[in-house]
Amino acid sequence: MWDFFETVRHRHSVRSYQSDLPVEKEKLNAIIETACSAPSAGDLQAYKIIVVSNNEKRQALSNAAQEQSFISEAPICLVFCSEPDRSAEKYGDRGHDLYAVQDATIAAAYAQLAVVAAGMASTWIGYFDEAMVKQIIELEDGLTPIAMLSLGYPAELPEPTTRRRLDEIVSHLD
Ligand SMILES: Cc1cc2nc3c(=O)[nH]c(=O)nc-3n(C[C@H](O)[C@H](O)[C@H](O)COP(=O)(O)O)c2cc1C
Repeated sequence: MWDFFETVRHRHSVRSYQSDLPVEKEKLNAIIETACSAPSAGDLQAYKIIVVSNNEKRQALSNAAQEQSFISEAPICLVFCSEPDRSAEKYGDRGHDLYAVQDATIAAAYAQLAVVAAGMASTWIGYFDEAMVKQIIELEDGLTPIAMLSLGYPAELPEPTTRRRLDEIVSHLD
């Protein structure tokens, strides 16, 4: 079992999957439970997670994401949706426009790390046609797709990506 820092270091976007290897139910549940343990504004958890395993729907999601074919190759696609009105009830415009998006985003980030801890891989997909995704997953009114995660056992070892130097990103105020 990796420690937390190793898990974070081993998270890389994977865009090729073993499509014939299903994701075990227990692992999927553990990933979703981890996502739902993320912090949220006022603990309102203003998001929903749609689990898409159906082949045709994953193919349609791939089409809605400018033909990113790894989405249909991965056995599961998780769609993280914000629920702006839930946050707006307590926090007004800031909840509506910002917190609900942050809630959904943090949950997806937690899920990505849980995927690594479960011995699998994912890629964050932000480049998609929102209206098409809503229609494909028959999303109820009041929800907005924020991010999708392809999820499954990897069929490639991706090259690690580079990062900006810390001193370009971090400022210390003494
Ligand atoms: C907001 C956001 C949107 C992204 N959209 C896509 C996408 O549509 N397709 C894709 O292949 N990767 C997408 N990515 C993944 C990034 O390309 C990837 O995280 C980045 O290149 C760093 O690589 P790494 O994840 O392996 O560290 C997205 C990541 C984020 C955070």
